[in-house]
This record gives sequence, structure tokens and C-alpha cells, in this order.
Amino acid sequence: MGRYDNMSEKRIPVIIDCDPGCDDTAALLLAFRCPELDVRGITTVSGNVPLDKTTYNALRVAEAIGTDVRVCPGADRPMFREAVYAPHVHGEDGLLGIPLPAPKRKASFYKAWDFIYEEAAAQEGELEIIAVGPLTNLAIALAAHNDLAGMIKRIVIMGGAAQGGNVTPCAEFNIYVDPEAAGMVMKSGIPLCVCGLDVTLKAYLTAAEIGEIKALGTPQAELFAAVTEQNCEKVFCPQGAPLHDPAAVLFAADSSYFTVQRCWMGVETTGTITRGKTVTDCWSDAQKDPNVELVLDVDRERFAKTVKRLMERY
Ligand code: RIB
Ligand code: CA
Repeated sequence: MGRYDNMSEKRIPVIIDCDPGCDDTAALLLAFRCPELDVRGITTVSGNVPLDKTTYNALRVAEAIGTDVRVCPGADRPMFREAVYAPHVHGEDGLLGIPLPAPKRKASFYKAWDFIYEEAAAQEGELEIIAVGPLTNLAIALAAHNDLAGMIKRIVIMGGAAQGGNVTPCAEFNIYVDPEAAGMVMKSGIPLCVCGLDVTLKAYLTAAEIGEIKALGTPQAELFAAVTEQNCEKVFCPQGAPLHDPAAVLFAADSSYFTVQRCWMGVETTGTITRGKTVTDCWSDAQKDPNVELVLDVDRERFAKTVKRLMERY
């Protein structure tokens, strides 16, 4: 069989909304080799670095992957707040200065939110979004197109945390950057799967596992290793490099080795200390109506094996 072993089953049409970003880059490398996924396009958002850099990075990573799907830029700042970036994690350029060649093509003139709407219509209710950056593009898409919510099958989000945080003691970066946008998505009624820090800090690769991928020797494997080996989050995950965004992609492709709990989730938008906290009702007397599938755990060995198997496809 060719590159995709199970072409017989219908592949899931997805758009990847991202802010490349090192782990976004790893997520893109994996997504385009998941046999279950049909990546219809990439949308970019201000997050780890400003929009011009996340878009530039998405274009050059797409070239490294060998895909010509559309790259559609979106929001250059959160809906109501000043932009927050993470150069201390991803470098000023968003890719730790890794010498990845400049892209030959330009980004699409289509805005992210309009591309999402157009593709949702084209996919006739089957489109899924894998959102691994701040949720600004999705919130704008929902505001601009009032029938969109009924056209999207599912959103798999890397963001939030039932417990803890990585920007503050109670907020994860993607939600912290644009809590209002996240709140709009949480209230949209669209089926949501939330891969927060609860699972992504368990979805790590050890240095040895990263070395095995690097040893594959392809340019894509070397890029994967380069964006993951400089694990800048040892404080959160001393065992290895947490693959936040790749966890959302692999969950979207095959959730069978992840643990999920249906619960209510809301976003704190008015607090100062609690800005961006994903308030999660896993167990309380409140028993609020559930609106998300919260991903709480993963079979890490299988996750690591899947990552390597996918990278072997390059
Ligand atoms: O908290 C981790 C998330 O924030 C990841 O998506 C990473 O790329 C950053 O955007
Ligand atoms: Ca990201």
C-alpha cells in the first residue's frame, strides 16, 4: 500500500489552527502522516510569536513537509486584550532559530475565519478543527458566521487544564492569551474534546525516544528532533519533552489509547489572578451540564510508538 495504509476507511477532514511554535511544528509533521486525517488547510493565529511569524513558520514547515495546502492567516491579536507571546519557550522567531529555509510561496489572501467557514460548508458537516493555539480565529469565525457552529463536527483543542497551569498557577497559555475567545468556543455547542495540560504533560518523549526519531535521518525527522529536543519545560515535565500540540493531533486521529471524562468546562475572563483558568466540573455537587470531553490520560508508550511510526512515513 502507499503512504496511507487505511485509505479504505474515510479519512477525517481537518483544519489545523495553530501558532507555530515548536510543538505546533511537531504537530504539523505528524498530522500530515496520520492515515486517519485529511488535512484540508492550515490557519495561523497570534500566539507563541506574532502572526507574521506564525504564518511564515507555517509556510516553511508546510514546505518541509511537502504539502501545498492553503495557509490562511487569522487574528494578529486576541479579541479584547493585548497580545501575549512566548519567545522564552519558542525563540524570537518561533522556531528556536532553527535554519529552516524560507518559504517559496505566500500565505493565502483568505482570512482564517472565512476559510474555516468555506471548508465547513464544503465538507457538509464532517469538518473537524484541531486547534493548538489561542482560540481567537475560531471565536471570530463563530461571530462572523452565525450558522457555523452547526457545520463543524468537532473541535479538538490543545488548551486549558483541569488542574494547574503553565503561564500562571491556574491558566494554560492558549486559553490565557485569549480567554474571551475560549469562552465563546466553550459555549458554542460544538462537540469539544479538550487536551489540556492534564494529559499533554503525560504525552512526553524521552531524550532517547527523540534520538531514535532523529536517527531516522530524513529532513523531517531532523526537524522534529530539533523542535522537541530543547525541552524548555523541564520544570513542568522533568521526564522528557511534553508534546502538547501533537497530543491533540494524535487524539483526533485515534482516541483509543487516551482516557476521557465528560464534564462541564468554563473559562474565567474577569479575574486577574485567575484569568484564563478553565474551571472544570469533573466532580462536584454542582454537576453542571457537561459540554466537553476532557482528556485526562494517555498510554504514553503507545503515544511514543505512534509518533515514531508516523515519522517513519517520511
Ligand atoms: O501551553 C502549551 C500551548 O501553548 C501549546 O499550544 C504551545 O504551542 C503554546 O501555544
Ligand atoms: Ca501551539
